[in-house]
Amino acid sequence: MNSPTTEIIFDENLKVLTSMPSESVNLIYVDPPFNTQKVQARKRLKTTRAADGGGDRIGFKGQSYKTEVLGEQSYSDIHEDYLGFLRERVEQTYRILAPNGSFFFHLDYREIHYAKVMCDEIFGRDSFINEIIWSYDYGGRSKSRWSAKHDNILWYAKDPKDFTFRFDDIDRIPYMAPGLVGPEKAARGKTPTDSWWHTIVSPNGKEKTGYPTQKPLGIINRIIRVHSNPGDTVMDYFAGSGTTGIAAITHGRNAILVDNNPQSLEVMCKRFDPTTTKFLNWDCTPVESGEVTQIELTPEPTN
Ligand SMILES: C[S@@+](CC[C@H](N)C(=O)[O-])C[C@H]1O[C@@H](n2cnc3c(N)ncnc32)[C@H](O)[C@@H]1O
Repeated sequence: MNSPTTEIIFDENLKVLTSMPSESVNLIYVDPPFNTQKVQARKRLKTTRAADGGGDRIGFKGQSYKTEVLGEQSYSDIHEDYLGFLRERVEQTYRILAPNGSFFFHLDYREIHYAKVMCDEIFGRDSFINEIIWSYDYGGRSKSRWSAKHDNILWYAKDPKDFTFRFDDIDRIPYMAPGLVGPEKAARGKTPTDSWWHTIVSPNGKEKTGYPTQKPLGIINRIIRVHSNPGDTVMDYFAGSGTTGIAAITHGRNAILVDNNPQSLEVMCKRFDPTTTKFLNWDCTPVESGEVTQIELTPEPTN
């Protein structure tokens, strides 16, 4: 098998989609802006120790720290005709998917129900296979309603009788009561259901790129491993920090990523190896990453 390729395109995704051949992609995962009516933004801060009292925050053991804002990454998440915007792209998704291809549509409680009805119209109701609930537990809690701590991922198969589902490649999770199932089963673990517990990308962890709304590799890895075969082509046309591409490379799949925000391309330039990745409409000359020691989230990362 040839080594997999990664193509990253800086462009308006509808333009790219309409230029692609029909039935040419095996798996499409997208995490569009959620129409939160906010500007999604994340600041990059550098924190250095300061002499007693000379800083602007107090950290561990009362040590004083000085913070400096290095930059901010953002994109607007305010849409006039949100469903119309999605519909044009989902129609193209259906066209370019291979006959046995799958579509994963990542949204949240605000738009998921409207999107489900829309996708039923485009794919046909029988093509709806699962709604995955990704639950996390991060950030503050509301005192006036149940705190929303989940995202929704719809899975549509172009042909509900013929799609990729690599059961043996599902990662296993621990039993809640391992004592009830015997040592062999407990050691092997169980397969997840349509409710996936997974932490968000840790604000200070290694995986963090600083891009607002970056999704965890654990979630995307599972989708790619189970719903595509090695050598297949995976596409994400709302690529952001490129999480889908990293998961595709890890699992030997080809990747096509599209985003129209220059800051997304800047992040992807740092995240991908420019010598093996093809960048289109973007000059990816390596940049010094600088001394970023802390990432601050603004606002809360619900998308
Ligand atoms: C929620 S973020 C995706 C985050 C990504 N899943 C990750 O893990 O980093 C949505 C992305 O869609 C991009 N986007 C929005 N409208 C677009 C369009 N019309 N064409 C291309 N990209 C678009 C935004 O720039 C943003 O990077």
